[in-house]
Amino acid sequence: MAAKLAATRLHLTNFRSYASAELCVSGSVVLAGPNGAGKTNILDAISLLSPGRGLRGAKLAEHVRKGPAAPGEALWAVAATVTRGQTPYDIGTGLTLGPGGGEKRHVRLNGVEAKGSADLGDIVQMLWLTPAMDRLFTESAGGRRRFLDRLVLGFDPSHARTATRYETAMRERARLLKYGPRDPAWLDGLENEMAEAGVLIGQARAATTERLNRVLTERGSAGAFPAAALTLTGESFECAEDLRAALAASRLRDAEAGRCLVGPHVADLAARHTAKRADARDCSTGEQKALLISIILAEARELARVRDGQAPLLLLDEIAAHLDAMRRAALFAEIADLGAQAWMTGTDLSLFDAAPAQIFAVEDGVFSKVN
Ligand SMILES: Nc1ncnc2c1ncn2[C@@H]1O[C@H](COP(=O)(O)OP(=O)(O)O)[C@@H](O)[C@H]1O
Ligand SMILES: [Mg+2]
Repeated sequence: MAAKLAATRLHLTNFRSYASAELCVSGSVVLAGPNGAGKTNILDAISLLSPGRGLRGAKLAEHVRKGPAAPGEALWAVAATVTRGQTPYDIGTGLTLGPGGGEKRHVRLNGVEAKGSADLGDIVQMLWLTPAMDRLFTESAGGRRRFLDRLVLGFDPSHARTATRYETAMRERARLLKYGPRDPAWLDGLENEMAEAGVLIGQARAATTERLNRVLTERGSAGAFPAAALTLTGESFECAEDLRAALAASRLRDAEAGRCLVGPHVADLAARHTAKRADARDCSTGEQKALLISIILAEARELARVRDGQAPLLLLDEIAAHLDAMRRAALFAEIADLGAQAWMTGTDLSLFDAAPAQIFAVEDGVFSKVN
């Protein structure tokens, strides 16, 4: 079955290890090859076709290929055709050097310049799992918030724009508190903006958590992946007025701390392994990975249900490494059943024998078709 939402053509220019590369695919894809072959770079490039900084969360300038640049204006560029249902969309993003020497990210949808990467969320939904996320539940809350926000984005593409609104106002407020002037009216205005956006962020996160818990509960431990329960932690604000008052009351403390201490940017996500009755952070690395897969699959299933069968793209970096043969087979079956386009990577070709995907061997940035 052809995926209803899929990237079918990908073109990279000056992107990390790739001077120039093109990949045309249909359906799911496996990239297999040795360490350093350029597999994660491909997933990273695809992830930049959605709002934000992509799966490595890297600074945009870090994507610039070190070494001789291919001719052209872009420092780096990623262009893709994404097909939704029967409709193809041309999506492009990249970094260019302005006349003043400043770097600027460009986003283009069907040839028209978009205001920012937030607009990409309207076209393509995607989720990813990377080896760096193996420690998601034990490391800092920031990673978990980013993970949760990506889950929200699938259901609510405007979440990216709301988050940008919130962060812009928060940065401006921090600047005023640090360097002045501490003009009360100006601070009030910024806190209003933060409060309005902040409450929307909190509500969207709560709705997504609830939605996923419903899917996870319905499913139980029926599959090869464990049942999980999610909890949003941290102070929640019912209405903008409450958050606005909390921000105003926190001005002096925030100025002293050098950062804002209240609001959705300090919330956290906890996950529980239901069958083990244990917090995710106390589970083994393998169990934590399995929990993450459960959550991602629940989101994909729910998104496909509400979006006319359009499951999100799944970028699964080094996914096979932690899974035994039975779980690998279960994951492949889930992907096929969802009708999702998955991009999977691994060092060992044999782990993907049963994958419902086009398999490419990658070596030194060159792709060769295996099946
Ligand atoms: N900005 C860059 N310029 C040139 N090469 C890069 C850049 N960033 C990463 N690389 C190189 O890309 C290679 C492939 O990386 P990666 O895609 O992570 O490999 P893997 O196949 O193991 O996932 C690495 O050898 C890395 O050094
Ligand atoms: Mg890699």
